[in-house]
Amino acid sequence: MKIAVVGTGYVGLVTGTCFAETGNDVCCVDIDAGKVERLSTGHVTIYEPGLEKLFLRNLKEERLKFTTNLEDGIREAEIIFLALPTPPGEDGSADLKYVLGVAEQLGRLLKDYKVIVDKSTVPVGTAEKVKNAIAKNCTGDFDVVSNPEFLREGVAVDDFMKPDRVVIGVSGDRARKVMGDLYGPFVRQGNPIIYMDERSAELTKYAANSFLATKITFMNEIALLCERLGADVDMVRRGIGSDERIGKRSEEVNYDFKILNAVMDVNEKQKLHLLPKIRKFFNNDLKGKHFALWGLAFKPNTDDIREAPALYMIDALLAEGATLSVFDPEAMHNVRSLLGGKVAYAESQYDALDGADALIIATEWNEFRTPNFLKMVTSLKNKVIFDGRNLFDIAAIRELGFYYESIGRAPADSLKPNN
Ligand SMILES: NC(=O)c1ccc[n+]([C@@H]2O[C@H](COP(=O)([O-])OP(=O)(O)OC[C@H]3O[C@@H](n4cnc5c(N)ncnc54)[C@H](O)[C@@H]3O)[C@@H](O)[C@H]2O)c1
Repeated sequence: MKIAVVGTGYVGLVTGTCFAETGNDVCCVDIDAGKVERLSTGHVTIYEPGLEKLFLRNLKEERLKFTTNLEDGIREAEIIFLALPTPPGEDGSADLKYVLGVAEQLGRLLKDYKVIVDKSTVPVGTAEKVKNAIAKNCTGDFDVVSNPEFLREGVAVDDFMKPDRVVIGVSGDRARKVMGDLYGPFVRQGNPIIYMDERSAELTKYAANSFLATKITFMNEIALLCERLGADVDMVRRGIGSDERIGKRSEEVNYDFKILNAVMDVNEKQKLHLLPKIRKFFNNDLKGKHFALWGLAFKPNTDDIREAPALYMIDALLAEGATLSVFDPEAMHNVRSLLGGKVAYAESQYDALDGADALIIATEWNEFRTPNFLKMVTSLKNKVIFDGRNLFDIAAIRELGFYYESIGRAPADSLKPNN
């Protein structure tokens, strides 16, 4: 099939590449001319495990193309995916200007029948708005489909190639058949395509996001409780996760906005949970202190730094007069373009430690899990680690002589020799 993908970011590039991988001809459209140039010349613009190999193969076989010209990009396409940004607007709701802007442009360009598929995460009712925006200037025949994306950055290619399920919000039979044919190769293992109306599909994405955020926040709250009660959150997580009703089934959540607001509030606070521990260790005076920071991406195996806890930590430490030397295996370029010279960029995880008063860990990259502790000891000024990701065994690291704070596990001062 011939496909266009408008917006070539984390979702669009993975979507385009994976559809090319199953034999489709894909043209990706983006307004960022630099990005299109890099992609057209064989440079992947994001870090995502497994993506480069598929990208290069499909580029070489000319199933994957890139352009800045929407008209050229969609001319041949039977299906047009919108993978455009929907950042929170001023009132916190998703800003639809990119999606509706492109929809309006499409209205002027459509000649023959096409299926326009919304893959961006959008509020309920957006499919209707997209339809109206297209229809304003359109003489051709088209259908609008809602196909929310559930991929997780860091495992996006796997998630796309082997999705747990594909959700398709669609009203007409013609579009339903087109979408079914397109996704056929991705659901050979018995994973379902779930068809529904457009509004339900849009809400499914929000409901899934909110549920997952609630689950994480719930465990974060338990972690705080663990610290107060002298329990170990890693043990509690294992203890409750093996209950089928919690680990596997996830329905029956009594969900309302109060919960969501609380979830967002707790999530924000969680990003700075280490800060009071750091302040306490340094007697509330971080001025002139120098920190090494490992991990900048919002999670491992991606270079995406949007909403990354490390950024909150950097801001807070700089505001208190500290300096930082940071390291991340993939996200350095993104932080450099955001923060410029505000922090120092280390060549390696060990370089970052040079002369640091303490190490802070913000992302659980694999290479941070079993570091060379002897090397660390020789570089760090103090043997002090604040670990936001619970990477190390508490007993083992304290045996090595480190002052070690993590989250939801025994605080450092509870383990002083006579305690
Ligand atoms: N990143 C994720 O993990 C993820 C997962 C599921 C859903 N989503 C949703 O998917 C959507 C896209 O997210 P993303 O992370 O890929 O965003 P992104 O910011 O990485 O990519 C968006 C791309 O769209 C391009 N763009 C902007 N305006 C354009 C226009 N008028 N024409 C063509 N291209 C244009 C930008 O240059 C950019 O390359 C969002 O709604 C997001 O909420 C994201």
